[in-house]
Amino acid sequence: MTIYNNENKLILVAHRGIATYFPENTMIAFKAALVSDIDILEIDIHRTSDNHLVVIHDDSIDRTSNGSGKIKDMNLAELQQFDYGITKDKQFAGATIPTLDEVINLIQDYHQKLLIELKQPQNYPGIESELIDALNASDLPKNKVIVQSFNQKSMKKIFDMNEGYELGVLISKKKYWYKLPLFKSIAAYADYVNPNYALVTEKFLKNAHQYKLSVMPYTVNEHEQAKALQKLGVDGLISDNPNDIL
Ligand code: G3P
Ligand code: CA
Repeated sequence: MTIYNNENKLILVAHRGIATYFPENTMIAFKAALVSDIDILEIDIHRTSDNHLVVIHDDSIDRTSNGSGKIKDMNLAELQQFDYGITKDKQFAGATIPTLDEVINLIQDYHQKLLIELKQPQNYPGIESELIDALNASDLPKNKVIVQSFNQKSMKKIFDMNEGYELGVLISKKKYWYKLPLFKSIAAYADYVNPNYALVTEKFLKNAHQYKLSVMPYTVNEHEQAKALQKLGVDGLISDNPNDIL
C-alpha cells in the first residue's frame, strides 16, 4: 500500500495542467501536460446541481470563465455554455469545463497518474462515494489514481471504503504555520502529506518519512525554491510550470 518514494527520483506534478502557460483545469492544459515530461497530472473537482463531477478549482466560475455563478447551483449544460479559455488568452477561446469522466478517458492513453483534489467536500455530501463509483466504473487502473484533500475526514472516509486508492492530505500554511501535522494518524489512512512549500523543513520531512508518507509540496514555480526543496529531500513537486523549475 505504501508508495514512499525512496528511488531518489523527484516526482513532477503538473498543477491544474500546466497552468502557467495554458488555461488551468482545461483539456488543452491537460493534453499539454501529458505530452510533456511530467509524472502526475493534478486536477480539482466540484459537483454540479445535477450531480456531475466537474473539473475546476474555485467553487464558482467567475475567475476562470466568461460567466458567473456557483458550481453547486448550475447544471452541467449551463456550465458548458461558458468559455474557460478566453480569460487566459484569446488563442484558447472555446475551452469548455471538463467533466471528471472526460479527464479519466484522456489519461487512459498516457502513462501518468491522475491526482484528484476533492475541493470543499464538506459542501457536497456523498461526493466521496460518487468519486469512487466514477473511478470504479472506468477502466483506469487503481494504481494510476491518487485522491487528495485538505479535508482529512473526507480522505478517511475514502480509506474506510477499502477500495485501495492512494490518498493524500493537503496541509495549508494558514492552519499549520505553527504546528506539525499529526503524521502518525494521517499515515493510518494516507500515503501522501502534501504541504504548502513554505512549511517544508528537515523536521517536517523526517517525521513524514518516518511514517512512510511521501511529501509533494505545492505550488513550487521558482527554480531556486525547487532546488532547495529537492536538496531537503522532498519526494515530488507540484508546479504550474513543472518542466521549467529544475
Ligand atoms: O495540489 C495541491 C494544490 O493544488 C492545493 O492548492 O488551491 O492550488 O488547489 P490549490
Ligand atoms: Ca488543487
